[in-house]
Amino acid sequence: MTITNQQVSRWVTDQDGIENLARDTTPMPTPGPDEVLVRISAVSLNYRDTEVVNGLYNYYDKPDQPRQPLVPVSDMCGTVVAVGEGDGESKWKVGDRVMSTFLQSHLTGQVYPRDLATGLGKPLDGCLQTYRVFGTEGLVRAPGYLTDEEASCLPIAGVTAWMAIYGMEPVGKEGRGEEGETVVVLQGTGGVSVAGLQIAKASGARAIITSSSDEKLQKAKTLGADHVINYRTNPDWEKEVMRITGEAGADVIVETGGAGTLYKSLDCIAFGGLISCIGYVSGREDKAGEARPNLNLLALRRTVTLKGIINGPRDRFEEMCRFYEKHQIRPVVDRVFGFDEAAEAMRYLVSGSHFGKVVVKVA
Ligand SMILES: NC(=O)c1ccc[n+]([C@@H]2O[C@H](COP(=O)([O-])OP(=O)(O)OC[C@H]3O[C@@H](n4cnc5c(N)ncnc54)[C@H](OP(=O)(O)O)[C@@H]3O)[C@@H](O)[C@H]2O)c1
Repeated sequence: MTITNQQVSRWVTDQDGIENLARDTTPMPTPGPDEVLVRISAVSLNYRDTEVVNGLYNYYDKPDQPRQPLVPVSDMCGTVVAVGEGDGESKWKVGDRVMSTFLQSHLTGQVYPRDLATGLGKPLDGCLQTYRVFGTEGLVRAPGYLTDEEASCLPIAGVTAWMAIYGMEPVGKEGRGEEGETVVVLQGTGGVSVAGLQIAKASGARAIITSSSDEKLQKAKTLGADHVINYRTNPDWEKEVMRITGEAGADVIVETGGAGTLYKSLDCIAFGGLISCIGYVSGREDKAGEARPNLNLLALRRTVTLKGIINGPRDRFEEMCRFYEKHQIRPVVDRVFGFDEAAEAMRYLVSGSHFGKVVVKVA
């Protein structure tokens, strides 16, 4: 049977809640000019995917916009199975192993609203399906030494951690250890934090990671973490960072914590340090009525840079792949679920039991 006679099998979300994820099929699409059809082999889940399914990812929604049926999940690795007919020669050929980029139009430089409109897994249909058509610009070649499951972990978790550590540096600068720099990855040991730990260590930096679990911190040590802190049993972890760094503070903080961690990060950042603001697993809103110095004062106090990060452009993704290949970094896959188990995989991610990435094997 040729591919065009087949159906695409997919998961769709059209009401809030993982329990409302539903399976259906749709006719196989045909790639047009500057497009390719990809057979999706593996997807990795991100915190954002669970927010989308649970109706909590509404930042760019228009008011009163009704929820549209959507294929969730942004990150995939797969194989090109058909190339659209166009005027010129395609960048891709049948058999190429490719990864998706999160914001399909974000190729270089600053991200803009027009790029956010091309996000996979919202607002565009994502990758929790057996086949999908991609624009030829929205893909990156998968590193040959990685399995499909491993490569599917790179587009969001890897690139975001990369941008948190290297985004303010010119393309091509490598090495965060030469001046004895310290990188702190917060809060927890999910996809971004574990990627940040691996990148920091490969850069030669001293790496400090925090988690709610001693067991997970032991795993972080086997990946090379120089210091580990349990933020549950040691809520004053920022003081521990200052102690470890001889009161100098951290040069880079990969801030995935948000409301519950940012002010602590500002208390353990080095003079001239960088806080990359990425996420909010500890909360989105400051506690009402909590008196503290204004953020302006806290930033100038140690001449800190606060940099918001929304993933990264394709050229930085490609740069990161060269770095991964050079250092033979393998993304940490905690668990692989079957395609039929996609809802279970999402629940597992929400439970926070994982260390690194949760993957769904599609085909
Ligand atoms: N700005 C961007 O471009 C970007 C890109 C990717 C992710 N993010 C954000 O970064 C954060 C981390 O994303 P991720 O995909 O790495 O997450 P993840 O894989 O789901 O990991 C989250 C980890 O955070 C810890 N945690 C602490 N409090 C938690 C809570 N209340 N609920 C759930 N987990 C909690 C847990 O680790 P321990 O048990 O070890 O403490 C958990 O394993 C999220 O806020 C996400 O939205 C932003």
